[in-house]
Amino acid sequence: MTIKEALTWGKEQLQESCERPSFEAELLLAYHLKQDRMYLITHDDEIVDDQESFEKLVHRRAENEPYEYIVGEASFYDIHLSVEKGVLIPRPETEILIDMVSKIVEEENITQIVEIGVGSGAISVILARKFPQLKMIATDICDAPLKVAKQNIETFGLEKQIELRKSNLIDMVSEPIQLVVSNPPYIAEDFLLESNVVDYEPKEALFGGRVGDELLKQIILDVKAR
Ligand SMILES: C[S@@+](CC[C@H](N)C(=O)[O-])C[C@H]1O[C@@H](n2cnc3c(N)ncnc32)[C@H](O)[C@@H]1O
Repeated sequence: MTIKEALTWGKEQLQESCERPSFEAELLLAYHLKQDRMYLITHDDEIVDDQESFEKLVHRRAENEPYEYIVGEASFYDIHLSVEKGVLIPRPETEILIDMVSKIVEEENITQIVEIGVGSGAISVILARKFPQLKMIATDICDAPLKVAKQNIETFGLEKQIELRKSNLIDMVSEPIQLVVSNPPYIAEDFLLESNVVDYEPKEALFGGRVGDELLKQIILDVKAR
């Protein structure tokens, strides 16, 4: 199968599951070949090595598995973060939260932040990179996010700035706290989500309780009590 044929085949397979089947077929083939998308255009009559592995990638995507889990990374802010099943894929909206927190850090000369629900480390990693004076404690109740966040913290050499702690909210944080940041789970438990989200992303990162805002309210109460 040539690159051109592989793209046509991939597009057909992804027709049902993807809004942009051609684009996603290109992304997956480029990832498989360890090349950029331009290479596919300029080498479209080249034979695809290990065609079976490429087909497996396309089948996973056709089953609605998010692209980020298939390739093991997500683009966020100005970096790429490792992600895997069990860890929320960072969302572009969270960049707004980071910009708001950054403003407070600058205006209030904040030097210490606690993040609740670190996930992949998206928020803590970006904040630590932006503010080298900042020390952060980042908690999560689940093991998978703590493992992946550790990996991302190491990739960017931020071990001295970010300390990870397994904790329910801030239960295991006894230090004085200047600022708390969190993107907690906030979806109501009976809310219908798309298959690529609900079948693949961790429930602990999505659902905040029956109404959805229970954890958010608990965070406010816990932080107020300090
Ligand atoms: C919506 S995700 C946010 C992940 C990451 N901060 C981001 O913005 O991409 C929420 C995270 O909170 C964690 N979490 C859920 N309940 C928690 C709790 N009671 N205490 C600490 N972390 C919790 C989940 O495991 C998940 O990693």
